[in-house]
This record gives sequence, structure tokens and C-alpha cells, in this order.
Amino acid sequence: MTAKTYAIRTFGCQMNEHDSERIAGLLEADGLVPALDADSADVVVLNTCCIRENADNKLYGTLGHLKTAKEERPGLEIIVSGCLAQNDREELQRRAGHVDVILGTHNVHRAVELLHQSRETGPVLEIWDEALEEAESFPSALAVRREIDYSAWVSIQIGCDNTCTYCIVPAVRGRELSRPFGELVAEVERLAADGVHEITLLGQNVNSYGRDLTLARREAVDAASDDALIAGSQWAADDSRRIRPLFADLLSAVSAVDGIERVRFTSPHPKDLRPETIVSMAENDAVCNHLHLPLQSGSDSILTAMHRGYTAERYLEKLAAARAGIEDLAVSTDIIVGFPGETDDDFERTLAVAAEAEFDLAYTFIFSPRDGTVAATYADRFVDPAIVSARFKQLHTVTERSALAKHRARIGRVEEVVVEGVSKRNDQMLSSRTRQNKLLHFASATALRAGTRASVLVTDAGAHYLAGELVEILAAPRHRIRIPVSAG
Ligand code: 5AD
Ligand code: SF4
Repeated sequence: MTAKTYAIRTFGCQMNEHDSERIAGLLEADGLVPALDADSADVVVLNTCCIRENADNKLYGTLGHLKTAKEERPGLEIIVSGCLAQNDREELQRRAGHVDVILGTHNVHRAVELLHQSRETGPVLEIWDEALEEAESFPSALAVRREIDYSAWVSIQIGCDNTCTYCIVPAVRGRELSRPFGELVAEVERLAADGVHEITLLGQNVNSYGRDLTLARREAVDAASDDALIAGSQWAADDSRRIRPLFADLLSAVSAVDGIERVRFTSPHPKDLRPETIVSMAENDAVCNHLHLPLQSGSDSILTAMHRGYTAERYLEKLAAARAGIEDLAVSTDIIVGFPGETDDDFERTLAVAAEAEFDLAYTFIFSPRDGTVAATYADRFVDPAIVSARFKQLHTVTERSALAKHRARIGRVEEVVVEGVSKRNDQMLSSRTRQNKLLHFASATALRAGTRASVLVTDAGAHYLAGELVEILAAPRHRIRIPVSAG
């Protein structure tokens, strides 16, 4: 079976490019690979912009070409996302009946689910209103270098050796393969020299980073000669060539690179979250105080059926250890509702664990059977969609409550932020990210370039954002200014 391919065409600004990368990550997690030639892609995404002049004409022109392409290749699937979709939905629907999915700027993370839905039901339009603005970032994506100059994704590992029964990644991505330690450090050094000051380390299971490397080193005859490049210098520091987890070392090594001010990573698997990682996060100032720790379910029997390798109690212990070790830690998670066989009691446990964990942010997903996964064969235990939908809403209430409480608790604090650009909701405001990965909007008399570091007093909060006032500018971005010729 050859993998389906995708191509994304981005119109407009850097924020849109950022969203496109999220969509790319989602499509890749669903088993698609980038098309070598955009004209042959199986799935085409048009991530639109309504700010630039003529953007709508360009979009409808492109859609015209795609209509002809779809007549020749009926399997071609088209997604239209972004600002124009958000603002111009009726027109778009009227003029582009051949589009499979239309989604807005607030539900980018739903791209793959909606694509699956459209295969069942025909064209789908889902636009969220602003009150539901969320999912500003998406976890666990294998994505390429961000198109934002000050910030870059660094893929440290591909594939996954776990066997979560709902997940298609191991089937489409194969075994875990780590990139050599020295290569990664050298890449981060290059990025830093280029003006990047924020990196996000990406892998399906970052905490097992390097397991394959150290195993291979231990067996190699003349391993010592290139240990430092392959697996770093620390793992074999003792003569027994004892295998030690490399992720904590990697975090420390990339944090030490001159010019790197923020290090993020996603995602660690709770079963592999080790004390060394917590220590490394706590000790390295550059590592951001944010942890994405996917819970998936709060019921031990569902966790077993999912093959997650931990119980709810163990998850909460790991979480407590992380919070105890890392000052002012924000925690986000992923939770799946309606896994086959999930009873009311199982779901009550998920609600209870979610309430106890007090997440800052939860990405909640409705279980969707993916062909080729074990859970897709549990059709006899699929949960009634009406029940799943009611549970989804209930869970949302619980996770929104803790998110709002966490955000409100920050009112009155001064946060260090990195500016991302002009706010999508209000062009008088700038949007920025705190070290905890929270979105913070603030007014500024001068337009600050993306990548500017500033301190901002938090004065207001919602479940998915903070708002505040500029206190002072800390540093201008060091990267070169890119002339926005782009894409569109
Ligand atoms: N159904 C629903 N959610 C899923 N995820 C992965 N596979 C599925 C599926 N088959 C969710 C998990 C994972 C996130 C990236 O996507 O919560 O952590
Ligand atoms: Fe999928 Fe589980 Fe691997 Fe994550 S850890 S990619 S959910 S199999």
C-alpha cells in the first residue's frame, strides 16, 4: 500500500504558515506523506487569507483549476481552511461545491477528523465562532521547519515502537528511529546562528529518544570512536556502557546552545517520563515550563485496552512529580472519548482524573476507527455516537473549567512573551506566547516584529487566552527580515 500524499498551499501571512504546519503535522499523523509534485497530491489544502488584496480571486482561480483536476481524478480531496473560509463561508460553499472540507481559523486541529467525516457524508463545513477559539497549537506532530524565522521545529525521532491500539502511526511510520545526538546539536547550533531562538523538539515518544542509538552503540565493535556523534558523550561515561536515557541529555545539550532561549518538546509518553527529564527541565532555564502529557483515558481498563502501559494512578503520580520538580509548570493533554467498550463508569473516571489533574489545556478527540489499527476491529464494542457526543460535551465542561481557573490565576503576573504577530481577532492587538505556551494578547503603540521578546502584565483571562498590557520590550528579534513574497 503506498501512502496517500498531500500538498498545502498557503496564502497570506506567517500565522497562516504556522497553521499550515499544524495541518501538515495532522495529515502526517494520519499516514499521509508530502507530495513530491503538488499537482499529483491526493489531498490538497488551501489555507486561505482574507487580508491580502485579491486573495479571494486567487482562491477561486485555484479552485477552478482544482475542479478540472477533480473531474480527471475523482479521488482528489480538497480542504479549504483559514481566514477566508472563516469569513466567506456561504460564498465559498456556493461557488465551490467540489470542496470536501471547509474549516475556519479556530478549528484547524479538526482538519483530519472532518476529512474522514466528508468521506462518509459528503462535503463538510465546520466553522467555529470566536467563543470557541482554541487549539492554538497542536501537539505531537511530525512537522518540518516552521516558517517562522525565530522559531523552528526539530524532528528528533520518527516512527513509534508503542502499540496504542487506536493509533495508526506505528503502522504508517514504522519503528522508532532517532536522529544522531551530535547531528541534532549541530542542527540547533546552525539554527541559532541563523537567528532562531526557539526550538521545538518533535517525536512521537520523545522520552524514548536514543534507545535505538544506545542499543546499536553497545553492540558495535569500535563504538567508542563515534559515540559522541551518535549518542552523545554521556551515555557511555561509565565503562559498563550502561544504557541511559538520552532525552534528558539532549534537552540539556540543546538548551546550552548559545542563542537558544526557549526549548519546547512534544510529546512525551507518560509511561516513559523519567526523573532525569524532570531534572533537566528544571535545571535548564531555556526549557519552557510546559509539559504536554497525553492522558487518553482515566479508566484503567480502557488504558489497558488502549495498550498505554500506565494506570490513572501512575499517570497522576508522574504529573505530581513533574509539578513538584518544575516551578510553575503548565500541563496540557490529549483525551479520547468513546474508545470501544467505554462504559459510563469508565467515562466517569476520565472526568474524575481530568478534574484532579487540573489541566491548563486539553485536546479532546472523539475515537475514530482507523483502518489497520487493532481498535478498528472492535466494532462490536463501538459506543453509540449520541452517547459519545454527550460525553464529549461533559468532558469539555470539566477541562474548560480548569483551563479558565489556570488562566485567571495568572492575572496580575508579569509574563515574558515572544510576539507572534498581529492578533487575528483585533488588528490593534499583538498576539504572543508565554513560556507556558499560553496565548497572550496585548496592545502596543508600536508594531513589534514577530520574534520580539517583551514582558507583559496579565490583566484578563479566558479559557484559551490571556490579555494584558505591555510592560517593556526586552529584545528585538535577531533573525533576518524576510520579505513576504509568498506563496499566494
Ligand atoms: N481516534 C481519536 N483520537 C486519536 N488520536 C490518535 N489516534 C486517534 C483515533 N484513532 C489522538 C490521541 C493522540 C492525538 C495526537 O490524537 O489523543 O494523542
Ligand atoms: Fe500512537 Fe501511542 Fe505511538 Fe503516540 S505512543 S504515536 S499514540 S502508538
